[in-house]
Amino acid sequence: MSILNLINDTNAGMMPDHYKELTDEEMVQRILRIKKKYGEKLFIPGHHYQKDEVIQFADATGDSLQLAQVAQRNKKAEYIAFCGVHFMAETADMLTSEEQVVVLPDMRAGCSMADMANMQQTNRAWDELTRIFGNTIIPLTYVNSTAEIKAFTGRNGGASVTSSNASRIVTWALTQKERILFLPDQHLGRNTAYELGIPLSRMAVWDPIAEKLVYDGDIQDVKIILWKGHCSVHEKFTVANIKNVKERDPDINVIVHPECTHEVVMLSDFSGSTKKIIDTINEAEPGSKWAVGTEMNLVQRIINEHPDKQIESLNPDMCPCLTMNRIDLPHLLWSLEQIDKGEPTGVINVEKDITKDAVTALNRMLSIG
Ligand code: 13P
Ligand code: SF4
Repeated sequence: MSILNLINDTNAGMMPDHYKELTDEEMVQRILRIKKKYGEKLFIPGHHYQKDEVIQFADATGDSLQLAQVAQRNKKAEYIAFCGVHFMAETADMLTSEEQVVVLPDMRAGCSMADMANMQQTNRAWDELTRIFGNTIIPLTYVNSTAEIKAFTGRNGGASVTSSNASRIVTWALTQKERILFLPDQHLGRNTAYELGIPLSRMAVWDPIAEKLVYDGDIQDVKIILWKGHCSVHEKFTVANIKNVKERDPDINVIVHPECTHEVVMLSDFSGSTKKIIDTINEAEPGSKWAVGTEMNLVQRIINEHPDKQIESLNPDMCPCLTMNRIDLPHLLWSLEQIDKGEPTGVINVEKDITKDAVTALNRMLSIG
């Protein structure tokens, strides 16, 4: 379901305008009051890409994998105000108990990559691919996908994947079946499989719009089928960006997220999830130089936290992930005040039958690591 439909179909509502007129100080005080009142009954997870004004209230910060794990472990919170994007809040809802209420402070906080694979397209792809390859394919889905796509994956023997554990899950999947269908991010799929030694010549691309498999060679050689989806934020880092920073300063280290294109990952010195990027720079020598290819809120936070290192965005014209940025101080306050009034908005409630199969995919991933 698209985010526009979600806004129309759920109790999401829109934040009243008067919240925009409040001062930051007023909003901070009101949020702190609610956090104090609810204590452990209210849990606020915050993804690394969230703005500082939101992250300051997070009870846990992390990448997608860490946030899925903390949601699953949390048994005390009655309300989880998820500061991230829609697929992350869905994951939290599915991994927590039925009584725990998960809310997304702004239902417009979607993920354009997750929207690149819907169920109709996926069913058509599966029919055609199983016609070509028979029962030799296992689906894997990046967590940046809808609950329905995770459920499809779980039903067909597959698992979800995050950028932190993609290598382990792809390795496992290849012990289960001859081929993988990797949704919806072609770049994470390609980068991960290549790192595991699978040549590009054994990877095909499924185009969900043209409904066809793009491959140049003997079709039976295909090992990895990459769904033609991408992250519009990470695709903005280019080979030219890397050449520019390296020409200016040959000592600079380039580190990028694996949602970047294969050419960019190949030319970089390091690649990894948001957690890996943070850990690598934390452990780096004072005085070391870094060009970072990921979302701007995180890059700016890393810059602020490391005055002893020279850090910059790999693309100087980069802008933040606009949907992540939908969650801001006014929306967080509004969301918490709605909870406090007993009228929570933006409640994420994944249907039971979808949850059952999607949790199969999520639990397979979590048990592998
Ligand atoms: P991480 O899994 O690294 O947190 O990334 C999530 C994401 O949305 C990246 O664009
Ligand atoms: Fe989705 Fe890209 Fe934003 Fe991550 S950065 S939430 S993949 S649009």
